[in-house]
Amino acid sequence: MNDTFYITTPLYYPSARPHIGSAFEIVGIDAVARFNRLMGRDVLLLTGMDEHGEKIQRKAEQQGASPQQFVDDMAALYKKMWASLGISYDDFIRTTEPRHIECVTAFFERVYNNGDIYKGTYEGWYCVRCENFLTQAQLVDERCGDCGDKASRSSEEAYFFKMSKYRQRLLDHIQQHPEFIQPDFRRNEMLSFIQGGLDDVCISRSTIHWGIPLPVEPSQVIYVWFDALINYITACGFAKDDDKFAKYWPADVHVVGKDILRFHTTIWPTMLMSAGLPLPGQVFGHGWVLAEEGEKMSKSVGNVIDPDDLIDAYGPDAVRYFLLREISYAVDGSFSTQKLINRINNDLGNDLGNLLHRTLSMIEKYFDGVIPGPGAKTADEEMLFAAAQGLVDQLDDLVGTFQFNRALEALWRLVSEANKYVELCKPWALAKDPSLRERLSAVMYNLADAVRITSLLIEPFLPFTARKMLDQLGLEKQEGGIRELAQWGKLSPGGKVRKGAPLFPRVETESSSSSDV
Ligand code: ME8
Ligand code: MG
Repeated sequence: MNDTFYITTPLYYPSARPHIGSAFEIVGIDAVARFNRLMGRDVLLLTGMDEHGEKIQRKAEQQGASPQQFVDDMAALYKKMWASLGISYDDFIRTTEPRHIECVTAFFERVYNNGDIYKGTYEGWYCVRCENFLTQAQLVDERCGDCGDKASRSSEEAYFFKMSKYRQRLLDHIQQHPEFIQPDFRRNEMLSFIQGGLDDVCISRSTIHWGIPLPVEPSQVIYVWFDALINYITACGFAKDDDKFAKYWPADVHVVGKDILRFHTTIWPTMLMSAGLPLPGQVFGHGWVLAEEGEKMSKSVGNVIDPDDLIDAYGPDAVRYFLLREISYAVDGSFSTQKLINRINNDLGNDLGNLLHRTLSMIEKYFDGVIPGPGAKTADEEMLFAAAQGLVDQLDDLVGTFQFNRALEALWRLVSEANKYVELCKPWALAKDPSLRERLSAVMYNLADAVRITSLLIEPFLPFTARKMLDQLGLEKQEGGIRELAQWGKLSPGGKVRKGAPLFPRVETESSSSSDV
C-alpha cells in the first residue's frame, strides 16, 4: 500500500499581498501536512501562484510593470511570507512556468480530442475580480452577486467546455462519496447549485493576451480558471512523469476558501472526468477571517490585517496558534488583537511556557541539569499518563477533519495535567527530605517526559516552538514512529538540559498591566 498524502492550497492571485485570511488558510493546511509527515506518510504539500488572467494583466498595467515582472515580484513576496510563517511546502508552482504551460496544453488536447470542446460565441457578463463568467442567477443589477464588483458585458467568439454533459455523473459522484465535499453544509450548498443546472463553460478569452495560448487558436488565451485548476496535476507530473503521477494522483484533499469551492466542485471534477482521470478524494471549503468588527477585510475600508506586522510583534508561532486555536476552520471567525494577546499570555505563556520553564529550572536546581531516572509509578501519575493515552489517534482524527481548535484543546489537556502534577507532587517539598530523593527523581523525569511528548506532538502546529523545546531538553531529532515516540518512558535519563529564554514572554497591554497588579 502506498502511504502518500497529497494536499494542496489554492493558488494565490498576485493581485494582492498575503493577508491574515491567506495566512489562516495556509497555516491550517501546513498543520495537516506536518501532522501527516509525523505519522510517517509521504507528503506532497503544494502551493503557488495563479498568475494569468485579466485581473493580473490590469494590475500590472496600473503599476506600469510588465505582467511577468509584476508576478515575479509578488511570487517572491509570497515565498518570503510563507517562510516567516514556517509553511513547509514541498513545491511552489507558478502558472507561468513552462512545466505548467506544457501540462495545460497536453490536458487541453486530451479534452479537445475527446470531443468536449466546441467553438461558439460568449454573450454575457464577466466579473474580473472573480475571473468568472456570470450566469443570470449570479448577476445582480449588473454586478457580480459573489463579490459585488461591477460586471462587464462581453460578447466574444469563444471556446466552450461541455460541462453540462457531466452533470448527472457529478451529482452521482457527490452523492455516492459524501466525503468528496466537506464540510457537510457546504456539500449541500454545492448540490443545490448543481441541481439548479450546469451550463457549458467558456474556456477561452479573445480580449486579453495574458494567458496560455489556446492550442487550436493561438490568438486566444485559455480562461484563467481552466488554466489554474490544472496546476494540481502539473505539480505531480501529469503527461510528464508517469511514476510520480501514479504515486500522488488523485490528491487526498484540495483545501479552498468557501468563495472558490464552486469552481473546485464543478469545473474541476468535470474536466477530470472528460480527461478520464480520477477525482481528488476531497475538496474542503473553509470559512473566512473577518476584521475585528466582523466586517469583510478590504483595502478600501483599510482594515486589512498584514501577517507581517503580527509576526514582527508576537512571533510566528503565536500567530499560528491564534489562527488554529481561536477561529474554527470550517466557518467564519473574526480577528481580534485582544484575543491573540490573551492566547499568548494564557495558553502559550502561563500553560506551555511555564511548564517548560519550571521543569527545567527544577532539574537544574535539584539534579544539576541532568535528567534523572524514572523510578516507580504511583497513583499520582494516573491523570498525567491518561492525558497522553490515545492522543496520537485523537489528533490524527481531529487534524484529518480540520478541527485544529479541538486538536489543540486535546494537546493542552496534557499540558494542563502536567502543570497540575507539579502542584500535586510539590517537588520543592520532596527536595527538602533526602529520603524522598528517589520520588523527586521520578517526578522530575515524568515532567521532562511530558515536555518531550508535548514538544513532539506540538510540532505540526508550532514548529518553531517544538524545536526550541527539544533543544532546551537537550534532545536531538528523535528517530522512530510517532506512535512509539509519544509513549511514556521514551526519554533517556542522563541527558543535560539547556534552559533558554522563556518561550512566550508576557505581552503587557494597558488593560492587562493595570488589572494584574
Ligand atoms: O481565488 N479568510 O485566489 P485568491 C480566509 N487564484 N480565506 C480567505 C480570505 C479570508 N478573509 N480571503 C481570501 C483565488 N481567502 C484563485 C484560486 S485555485 C486553482 C485558484 C482565500 O488569491 C480564498 O478563499 O483570490 C481562497 O481560497 C484563497 O484565499 C486564495 O484567494
Ligand atoms: Mg479571491
